Amino acid sequence: MLESLPYPSPAREREEQYADLQSRIRGLLTGEGDWISALATIACELHHAFDAFHWTGFYRTTAPDLLRVGPYQGGHGCLEIPFGQGVCGHAASTKHTTVVPDVDSFTGHIACSSSTRSEIVVPVLSPSSGQVIAVLDVDSDYPAAFDEIDVRHLEKIVELLAEQFPHGEIL
Ligand code: SME
Repeated sequence: MLESLPYPSPAREREEQYADLQSRIRGLLTGEGDWISALATIACELHHAFDAFHWTGFYRTTAPDLLRVGPYQGGHGCLEIPFGQGVCGHAASTKHTTVVPDVDSFTGHIACSSSTRSEIVVPVLSPSSGQVIAVLDVDSDYPAAFDEIDVRHLEKIVELLAEQFPHGEIL
């Protein structure tokens, strides 16, 4: 269990890291037409950018009200999550970014890894239909690892993704 907090690192440092990350992701996705490749690239870039990101990836909406894991980086994640269950399912059913500073206090949290202490889940909304096409899930072994800086920048990154892939894999 990680108790001492080297995180969140100073706000200015993270703002700069996110700005770099955003322009790198924009560059990498330019001309990309494959949804899975785009998700894998974003998960990889995010995961390696921040020390506190211990599980970083997506759950995709593959059937009505059902999320399916991948692509992601980190230890294994549970394969399916119905809308409404766990933090991912909560973000999917409410269509709102969900920040959980202490997973033990979130009723129904799905513990894929016992080391996870906090998490953020950002829904990816189709700009055309408003449907949740995926969620971005980042889990940390540090408590309270995510704040409004993460919310703002991760929402921006999923917005870029949704603009380029407005339907995800929902037909
Ligand atoms: N913590 C999540 C489940 C997904 S994994 O931990 C990768 C949740 O409660 O939605």
